[in-house]
Amino acid sequence: MTTSSPVKVSVIGAGHVGATFAYGLLLSGVASEIVMIDLDHSRAEGEAMDLGHAVPFGRPTRIRAGEWTDLEGSSAVVVTAGAGQRPGQTRLDLARRNALVVGDVAAQVASHAPSAILIVATNPVDVMTFVAVSASGLAAPRVFGSGTILDTARFRAVLGDRFGVDPRSIHAHVIGEHGDSEVPVWSLANIAGMRLAEYSSAFGEVLSQDDMAGMFEQIRTAADRIIERKGATYYAVASGLVRIVEAVVRDQSTVLTVSSLIDGPYGISGVCLSLPAIVGAEGIQRVLPLSLDESELRALRSSAAVLRSAIEGLPPK
Ligand SMILES: NC(=O)c1ccc[n+]([C@@H]2O[C@H](COP(=O)([O-])OP(=O)(O)OC[C@H]3O[C@@H](n4cnc5c(N)ncnc54)[C@H](O)[C@@H]3O)[C@@H](O)[C@H]2O)c1
Repeated sequence: MTTSSPVKVSVIGAGHVGATFAYGLLLSGVASEIVMIDLDHSRAEGEAMDLGHAVPFGRPTRIRAGEWTDLEGSSAVVVTAGAGQRPGQTRLDLARRNALVVGDVAAQVASHAPSAILIVATNPVDVMTFVAVSASGLAAPRVFGSGTILDTARFRAVLGDRFGVDPRSIHAHVIGEHGDSEVPVWSLANIAGMRLAEYSSAFGEVLSQDDMAGMFEQIRTAADRIIERKGATYYAVASGLVRIVEAVVRDQSTVLTVSSLIDGPYGISGVCLSLPAIVGAEGIQRVLPLSLDESELRALRSSAAVLRSAIEGLPPK
């Protein structure tokens, strides 16, 4: 991959996720300039210096620490600022704390880079995406969150392992909240267009309800199990963020399960949650209303209700 015209990408929050994202972006060659901003400016400087020394082994990229005014001219701004999830803490517990950070950051982005696409990774990502849409005042399709991009990747990986098929050949989505109420869409998961039940029976396999429950449990608890062992997760989400940014700056119209402000489908509105969406240079081009079965629809509506109550629990602006 080569970068044909200059592409500036800024990342706010130079912690585990932000720095790993910047590293992935540097190796990808998607950006020609990366700006890192952090409340702890010297941390951003240290990361930018270290990453800068990787450039001779990677792609020509200018990388530096910056201030809010350096956001100007960014094609995409990625927000990873804020506290991480502690062991045993739910993502929604983080909401009150991180809403202040994300609200402030979103206002800065709107003021200094109003034509950027704003991508939120800070948890709880669906609630923080809602905060970013409200606080930035930017058009809703231009602000979205990494949502269940990672859960969807994990779903495909788990199915790939189970069926011995490259996960890239599997279409399957996790929708709703990035968190405990997320919904795996089993009814539409397919391998080359063959639904899982059809595929299993064609090859004499059995996919029981217990198998499915076990696989979903692996996906739903993946972050907790990693955090228990190493304190944070960052490689996979950073890779997902690089993929999102690539879809935006190269206007790829890629289907990604990202979190956006939902207005209507399934009778849900006024919350941000993940559904497959077409992502390109203008942000969310279209949200795809999947034909869910009844239990999935019920689960998605419950997930929306969980998120609505988290939004209602935020301190007033
Ligand atoms: N969406 C996902 O799938 C996903 C996955 C992993 C982590 N996360 C989330 O990403 C966030 C960051 O995680 P991390 O492990 O990188 O945390 P971290 O503590 O390593 O880094 C957070 C950084 O944000 C900075 N910061 C805090 N307030 C700021 C502000 N107002 N302006 C600028 N910078 C500010 C801190 O100084 C710190 O450097 C957390 O909320 C975490 O839960 C999301």
